[in-house]
Amino acid sequence: MIRLDKLLSHGGLGSRSSVKKLLRSGAVTVNGKSVFDSSMRVDEENDIVAADGKKIEIRKEVYLMMHKPSGYVCAKRDGLHRTVFDLLGDAYRTPFFEDNLHTIGRLDCDTEGLLILTTDGELTHRITSPKSECGKTYFVRLAKKVRSAEGSAYVSECAKGVHIAAEGREKEADCKSAELVWIGSGDEKDECTLTIYEGKFHEVKRIFSALGNEVVYLKRIAIGALRLDESFAKGDWHELSEDEIELLYRI
Ligand code: URA
Repeated sequence: MIRLDKLLSHGGLGSRSSVKKLLRSGAVTVNGKSVFDSSMRVDEENDIVAADGKKIEIRKEVYLMMHKPSGYVCAKRDGLHRTVFDLLGDAYRTPFFEDNLHTIGRLDCDTEGLLILTTDGELTHRITSPKSECGKTYFVRLAKKVRSAEGSAYVSECAKGVHIAAEGREKEADCKSAELVWIGSGDEKDECTLTIYEGKFHEVKRIFSALGNEVVYLKRIAIGALRLDESFAKGDWHELSEDEIELLYRI
């Protein structure tokens, strides 16, 4: 089920406010009956929606998983760098996608890994809102190797919530509790995973900087229960299956 105004707007009938006007004018019918309520929910599979007697082709939300390579920015346009949208084919260059397709959160230009692009603003809100505490897991390689006592201190600092310094226009802040898991068995380690439950600007890099280290390689490997498909080459993308979309909604 989808809201009628959203369906009309996705069907190419303009912004939500112009769609409201259209509804007020009585031009919209659902299964042959005039409707005026923009918040009405319709069944994309079975209901027939028309405007001025013309059937609206229902466009489902689009969900793409990308293995973001380093060197690309998460912006529609950028004077300096290539953007993740440049990696998509021409099918995604229509005015509808220009207006509606967006990334769920952003990865830095030099960060790789799991990126979701979607037209579904509700899902984006669910995943990015600090209230929903959706975990995002990163593989991290550090500049300095850490011995076991210091490694344990990192784990407990992250669990308590690290105080990060200001960066650019971003103020200093207390991060929420995060989970650090070291990788490997030696006494000195420089690789771990970190799961954070919010999305502050440069959060992972600022956490390790506050701990006295530096991130030299960063890759997002999971968002909630959805993991990056490791068979995927950098720069590849595919539409998410229904099961993968379900995993994202399960947060
Ligand atoms: N934290 C960072 O520091 N960079 C990213 O790209 C994502 C999370």
